[in-house]
Amino acid sequence: MARTRHDRADEGVLQEHVDRLRAADHVLAWVGGEVQRARAARDEAIREAVAAGLSLRQIGGALGLSAEGVRATLPPGSAKYDRLGATYASTRQADPRVQAAIWDALGDARSVVNVGAGAGSYEPPQTILAVEPSLVMIAQRPSGLAPVAVTTAARIPLPDGAVDAALCSLTIHHWDDLDAGFAEIRRVARRVVIFTWDQQVYRDYWLVKDYFPGIAAYDDERAVPIARLAEAFPGARVIPVPVPHDCTDGFLGAFWRRPEAYLDPLVRAGASGFSTVGDQETEEGLQRLVDDLGTGEWRRKYGHLLEQDAADLGYRLVVADWE
Ligand SMILES: C[S@@+](CC[C@H](N)C(=O)[O-])C[C@H]1O[C@@H](n2cnc3c(N)ncnc32)[C@H](O)[C@@H]1O
Repeated sequence: MARTRHDRADEGVLQEHVDRLRAADHVLAWVGGEVQRARAARDEAIREAVAAGLSLRQIGGALGLSAEGVRATLPPGSAKYDRLGATYASTRQADPRVQAAIWDALGDARSVVNVGAGAGSYEPPQTILAVEPSLVMIAQRPSGLAPVAVTTAARIPLPDGAVDAALCSLTIHHWDDLDAGFAEIRRVARRVVIFTWDQQVYRDYWLVKDYFPGIAAYDDERAVPIARLAEAFPGARVIPVPVPHDCTDGFLGAFWRRPEAYLDPLVRAGASGFSTVGDQETEEGLQRLVDDLGTGEWRRKYGHLLEQDAADLGYRLVVADWE
């Protein structure tokens, strides 16, 4: 059927509308992309500022946001370690002897998921995936390590039976849902290696017993009892891990033969136990330690430790296999 002039005129008008819509949409898509890029750049700047030691309040001040507003821009589950983890890379270098014990316990596992991987300490080369909720910790992972899923143990993005072993190093005491994490580990792996501590033994460590009883009290609550692990993973073996006197990984017990080290704020910042007691207890505990080191009281009570190369403070490997 022949087209009228009227149809052609309408078509021209319609095309103008289509062009205008496309142009507007194009601008919107471009602006959207720019906004996304700007958001990513700002999030990156926030993470780097946290890692450099700026408080959320200072960052909020610069951005016109409250500290809570800044925290809301960080992924769920990351907030705690985003605060604690800022100095991690400088104080928490994997200790080669502890590493040998952990890697030994992984045995013949050819594929590993490292759960609560943090900055990558003790991550074995056969790791195919790291699971870690804190971006600040992830930002401190050296390049060349396994890819990271920004999530928690409760949601491991791997298919059933995907790996030979799961490694959980000094992390389970932070998990908000242990049962869900353990169920995920049983689902994706056939072996678990958990590096943790036995609070029954740890409670007697001189640092917490004499100077920071609040840390011991807090850990009585948060430490996962070895019996609980044996129940979750029937047939589990428990292997003591002595702490070398010159341990390079600055976890709370690392300085058992170097008491002066605990006076260093950087050392304390690297061990999450110190964040569990208030400023007043920290000040009082430190003052007692300074006094006891000065008067020789520490040496009188604990001088025998200076003769030891390693100490059993309660650190344990819990290793279990299943089919
Ligand atoms: C003390 S760091 C240990 C990091 C590393 N595995 C190591 O041995 O150095 C504890 C880590 O557990 C992570 N974490 C906290 N809650 C978690 C959860 N529910 N699932 C997995 N990881 C978690 C923290 O973000 C932190 O990086």
